[in-house]
Amino acid sequence: MLSGKTIVVTGAASGIGAKTAKLLKKQGAKVIGLDRESNVEYVDQYIKLDLLDKSTIETAIEKIDRIDGLCNIAGLPPTFDRKSVMTVNFVALRFLTEGLLNKMNHGGSIVNVASLAGIGWPQSVEAIKDTLVNVNFDNVEEYCDKYDVEGPRSYFFSKEALLIWTMQNRWTWRDRGIRMNCVSPGPVDTPILKDFVETLGERAEEDMKVMDRAGTPDDIAPVIAFLLSDGSAWIRGVNIPTDGGMASHVMEQIHGFS
Ligand code: NAI
Repeated sequence: MLSGKTIVVTGAASGIGAKTAKLLKKQGAKVIGLDRESNVEYVDQYIKLDLLDKSTIETAIEKIDRIDGLCNIAGLPPTFDRKSVMTVNFVALRFLTEGLLNKMNHGGSIVNVASLAGIGWPQSVEAIKDTLVNVNFDNVEEYCDKYDVEGPRSYFFSKEALLIWTMQNRWTWRDRGIRMNCVSPGPVDTPILKDFVETLGERAEEDMKVMDRAGTPDDIAPVIAFLLSDGSAWIRGVNIPTDGGMASHVMEQIHGFS
């Protein structure tokens, strides 16, 4: 299904990224894994990088040749400080993506792993629009201050920004056949699930009560693989909630249509 394609996967050392890297290999792709951890033996090429360090991203970009896909999966949970969360989950993701665009072949696909946590973006459109235009590695704290992004809110804000940025770029590279989409998981059983439960407290517990089960990386990886395949060529700028029905549940609660 992905034979002949070379695909970059960030966050390939753990959780959703590790499962995705292995599945893409199984489907015939050549996989280049990027992570700050080194235990990534199941990919064709491994490049160590720290998304908090712009120079390591630049070095990684230099090491990569032609590609057909990019999965931006690396992410930090809300237990980390706001600067790191915003940088890894959005600023560095965008920097890496823009740096790899010239190396992407016609028909390429970019898949960003956002989150159910981004569902509230309509409440922050003005803050996000300003941030998208102006934020960079050096002024993250300034934009967090400007829009009262404190503590765990940084996680939500980073994912909201990612969703809007993806929508905005639905047609940016259309003439090159390159598309970009998001997958938004609900709670998934990976090493960072405990961080979400710890930070979101009662809200996470309430969510878990209405769900039949937490997701697993096996629930998410095939959706990412589909968005990388030629079968999804006309899907552009969308977000696919992959959350056991949670996004619909939240929308129903917000709009009261039950
Ligand atoms: P994970 O902790 O298992 O994997 C995250 C990966 O990102 C790790 O391999 C880590 O080394 C890498 N990473 C973190 N900071 C980095 C940095 N500075 N430089 C390079 N690599 C770095 O977590 P999981 O659950 O697989 O998360 C993957 C994505 O899914 C994240 O973007 C997360 O926000 C998103 N997500 C996860 C959910 C969950 O419940 N697990 C729910 C919704 C979204």
